[in-house]
Amino acid sequence: MGFPLGHMIPRVLSGVQPSGNLHIGNYLGALTNWVRIQHDYESIFCIVDLHAVTVFQKPDELRVSIRDLAALFLASGIDPKHSRIVVQSSVPAHAELAWLLTCVTPMGWLERMTQFKAKAALQESIGDGLFQYPVLMAADILLYQAAIVPVGEDQLQHLELTRDIAQRFNALYGETFVMPATKLPAVGARIMGLDDPSAKMSKSATGAGHMVALLDPPERIKKTIMRATTDSGSGVDFETMGPGVANLLNIFQAFADWSNDQMRAHFAGMRYGDLKKQVAEMVVSKLEPLQARYREITSDSGYLDGVLRAGAEAVTPVADSTVRLVKQRMGLGA
Ligand code: TYM
Repeated sequence: MGFPLGHMIPRVLSGVQPSGNLHIGNYLGALTNWVRIQHDYESIFCIVDLHAVTVFQKPDELRVSIRDLAALFLASGIDPKHSRIVVQSSVPAHAELAWLLTCVTPMGWLERMTQFKAKAALQESIGDGLFQYPVLMAADILLYQAAIVPVGEDQLQHLELTRDIAQRFNALYGETFVMPATKLPAVGARIMGLDDPSAKMSKSATGAGHMVALLDPPERIKKTIMRATTDSGSGVDFETMGPGVANLLNIFQAFADWSNDQMRAHFAGMRYGDLKKQVAEMVVSKLEPLQARYREITSDSGYLDGVLRAGAEAVTPVADSTVRLVKQRMGLGA
């Protein structure tokens, strides 16, 4: 299935956690960008289940979430004939490299991670896995010598840390890792909550009007968007608009793939009610075909099994050879 990973062209790697409902922030910040660039590179897209278990997950629900996420990758347009879809825990080298990198990572670097601080504040007892989370993410990337990592804005700090870890390893043990570059989408790198545009749209948020999930039925999508928080103005003013209006315009622009000029010409002066209607229609028109593909894919579990098996088989030799090299550099093994 597809060409064998040969590293003749630069490699792309990214991942999503199989926890909670995937929302339009994940889709616009990550998945659409993956689909856009996948054919220009050797692409590996991971379902990062080892990251998900840094906080407790019900085993039966996690098993389902992993497969659902794989189906959503495919439904979004990831092409399994070209790109590899990999369940992180099915390639043991991720965990092995994570340990080796942990040993070159100062605790102070991890203590500065804002996502760790935010997540830790929500836990009664903080697992060590949550602390090590960014090192495992660095391992995901460095394991495949990925040159490009397409993510949303909230991952910038983790990517900087990945480069710091790679540089430190290279300085201690000699040139080993490719330095990965972050790739943000031009529009949609940070989608905000529809109920509160001062907070990032997040899978773990519980408010009813917070997010549009990729599998929400059309009626629900419309309701959520029509209720979105705007500001006290009444019509779109590109010079003075608040974060709620900016977020709605951002969502429309990312889905429609319009230029800034097109956006201004179309929306300047439009009443908020009409803006919301148009955003809702745009989102529904893009998600309906995705949802239909998702239903098709999930009706054939053998197909999904095959894609995941082929993904793991294709990437394992690459992952193993990096771990072999790293161990050799560190003086480990016979
Ligand atoms: P996760 O699962 O939280 O999010 C998956 C992707 O969605 C992006 N994203 C957003 N983009 C725009 N607006 C938002 N509101 C929004 N919320 C999330 C994220 O930036 C991400 O690209 N640590 C990662 C998973 C990971 C990873 C990796 C990513 C593990 N290993 C290696 C890249 C490379 C995470 O928790 O993403």
